[in-house]
Amino acid sequence: ESAESQARFDNKIDADGKIEPQDWMPDAYRKTLVRQISQHAHSEIVGMLPEGNWISRAPSLKRKAILIAKVQDEGGHGLYLYSAAETLGTSRDQMLEGLHSGKAKYSSIFNYPTLNWADMGVVGWLVDGAAIMNQIPLCRCSYGPYARAMIRVCKEESFHQRQGYEALLVMMQGTAEQKAMVQDAVNRWWWKCLAMFGPPDADSPHSAQAMRWGIKRISNDDLRQKFVDATVPQAKVLGVTLPDPDLKWNEERQHHDYGQIDWDEFWSTVNGNGPCNKERLATRVKAHNDGQWVRNAALAYSRKQQTQATK
Ligand code: 3HC
Repeated sequence: ESAESQARFDNKIDADGKIEPQDWMPDAYRKTLVRQISQHAHSEIVGMLPEGNWISRAPSLKRKAILIAKVQDEGGHGLYLYSAAETLGTSRDQMLEGLHSGKAKYSSIFNYPTLNWADMGVVGWLVDGAAIMNQIPLCRCSYGPYARAMIRVCKEESFHQRQGYEALLVMMQGTAEQKAMVQDAVNRWWWKCLAMFGPPDADSPHSAQAMRWGIKRISNDDLRQKFVDATVPQAKVLGVTLPDPDLKWNEERQHHDYGQIDWDEFWSTVNGNGPCNKERLATRVKAHNDGQWVRNAALAYSRKQQTQATK
């Protein structure tokens, strides 16, 4: 029975079919998906924090409305993703426990500070730009609920990227001080965004198996390269310099070469020692605790409805 189930699963993966929640799947496949989808959900929820801080300080009503919409979208993405992960048999409470206790990972990029308004534009352009590059292939992921959730997430993510780029285009037509703010923000975020794609393929413990299972469709390094190649012309239109003296077109490879990413700094941040890790986690835990009364009220209401139904 189990060998037969395994064969059915393998055939479906080989034929590029979708695995659905009711289908048999190997434990390791289930575990990998819960790990990746819950980390992804946590990233969306924690990702609301660096931008949420700027809602009350947006420079105009238009920018404020855009930023509120974007932060709400991220909350929504987190909720779809927790729901997708729940179809694999792990409860939302378990996943949140992992996040709040500091055991679970989320994208390292959200542990850096957003110092001024130019950061809001650069987070949209580069952070969300890198996020879409990684997420478009996930729409073809072998696990049905994750793949379907990613379609809407990517559409909304594309709006996030464009609003950031447009905000920067406006600032780059402004005063010398505004232009300098944009350049400074690009300098601070560029290398962090390259690291978002994860460790180099050779040092990525999960990649080979995730590719075999059709969870990952494009490798960490290939996505990073695609991101660099897509961003260089955008930087030129914007009029900013990407802070990498080794960044140049390689005619032979038909790609841009780029410099060395600081992986020690990346791992130190992933492991809890980035500039904002403690603050982000504390804010998240406080928000969760402050919301306890809402969960209590919802539970009390649902209990009341049940007792009325059985009367
Ligand atoms: N930040 C923190 N940890 C990271 C990381 C990053 N940028 N990149 C990799 N890691 C971690 C992995 O989670 C893994 O840790 P684990 O073994 O404890 O789970 C370890 O480093 C080894 O990396 P691998 O490359 O072997 O791991 P994966 O195969 O899981 O690949 C990934 C990493 C490419 C990030 C993959 O998990 C993925 O595609 N995830 C879905 C996308 C996602 O999570 N995006 C989040 C950021 S974008 C976002 O949230 C949108 C924004 O608009 C709010």
